[in-house]
Amino acid sequence: KTVYVLNGPNLNLLGTREPAIYGASTLADVQALCEQACARHGLALAFHQSNHEGVLVDWIHEAGRLHAQGRLAGLILNAAAYTHTSVALLDAVKGTGVPLVELHISNVHARESFRHHSYLSAAARAVMCGFGVAGYGLAIDAVAQW
Ligand code: DQA
Repeated sequence: KTVYVLNGPNLNLLGTREPAIYGASTLADVQALCEQACARHGLALAFHQSNHEGVLVDWIHEAGRLHAQGRLAGLILNAAAYTHTSVALLDAVKGTGVPLVELHISNVHARESFRHHSYLSAAARAVMCGFGVAGYGLAIDAVAQW
């Protein structure tokens, strides 16, 4: 089975973007961490980042096609700022029925109030936040048990 890990806007800047909040790891480091976690569980990995909402919708649909074939372990989505704005991403998750982990590197609940609401949580099987980039590996370990 395959784990989808999708990353939204500005996560390509990881490593230099507000390091006090998001840490020093780059997105390439996160991808390597995910590859190692998937290898531990014998899972394949599809890892993507986009700054464009519709591109993320298309990848959720792609994961949904695997899900329909029983070949998706789970979808781990760090929708970044779209978490707090996007009905389109929520509808994509609901429309495909993909088992979702909503992930945030930071603890969004300890930050500005506009980060406290997520459109995705209602459709998520699990929510991971505040573990830094280690959360990606922890989420893969959890998805491997689904
Ligand atoms: C984030 C939290 C969001 O509020 C923010 O817009 C991001 C990253 C996180 O990983 O902590 O871009 O999803």
